[in-house]
Amino acid sequence: MKLHFVLLVLSAAVGLGQAAYAADETIEGMTAAQKAALRKTIDTCTTCHGTNGNSVAPTFPNLAAQTAPYIEAQLHAFKDQSRGDPDAQAYMWGMASQLSDSTISGIAAYYAAQAAPTGKAGDPALIAQGKRLFEEGVPARQIPPCASCHGKSGAGQVVFPRLAGQHAPYLLKQILVIQSALRNAPVMHGIVKDLTKDQIQAVVAYLESI
Ligand code: HEC
Ligand code: HEC
Repeated sequence: MKLHFVLLVLSAAVGLGQAAYAADETIEGMTAAQKAALRKTIDTCTTCHGTNGNSVAPTFPNLAAQTAPYIEAQLHAFKDQSRGDPDAQAYMWGMASQLSDSTISGIAAYYAAQAAPTGKAGDPALIAQGKRLFEEGVPARQIPPCASCHGKSGAGQVVFPRLAGQHAPYLLKQILVIQSALRNAPVMHGIVKDLTKDQIQAVVAYLESI
């Protein structure tokens, strides 16, 4: 990972941070009717993503405490069909096609403000291996620490998604579709393309546990 590239990504992220602030303002400035409409839309999302964005089934990602700029970016990517892995197409293209830009901002602000999911216990040896990969990367193979973008505790920052407390099967599937470029995420593709299945299983076990 070249430093100037990381700086480019980070400066883009800072720009989007202002969009997150704007999203909070959007909810603050909503009329009662607009808030009721937003609530109705969110009730639809609850069917799969759970109450307050804490989902029960691992196919459906938790949205609680996810960063607002990331949620916004993903909803736009489903809407313009640029996130095109099979489950994105099957579950989210239709849902997102119905959402206006202001509804997307309102949804993002809502989920970002929910309490984060709590980690689940797992295999201690696997978790310890995953923690090392998350914090240190694999210097010998030029894989940077995941923490450098996703935050020390995996809580995410701006466009870098929260990974802490996310369902391991969902994270595993995302890394695989990013590796195979079914999900178009160029920055992440470069980072995970050489991870082995064992390394992926370890890092997702760690992330689900925190
Ligand atoms: C029928 C089930 C279903 C419904 C209803 C649904 N989703 Fe999803 N959603 C999914 C699945 C499955 C995925 C994972 C897609 C993938 O694997 O690429 C997903 C992914 C997402 C993501 C990306 C999360 C991430 O970590 O990248 C966001 C954001 C999202 N949904 C928001 C919403 C919102 C907002 C609504 C309501 C307007 C909604 N979803 C309704 C099933 C659903
Ligand atoms: C240079 C910054 C950077 C580094 C380092 C990085 N990521 Fe990411 N990661 C991203 C970005 C940006 C996205 C969002 C991709 C998109 O927009 O679709 C992402 C998305 C993800 C997702 C999908 C999350 C979701 O909710 O769908 C997973 C899983 C993930 N990263 C895991 C990792 C792991 C594991 C590592 C370390 C081996 C890592 N990342 C290192 C920038 C990074």
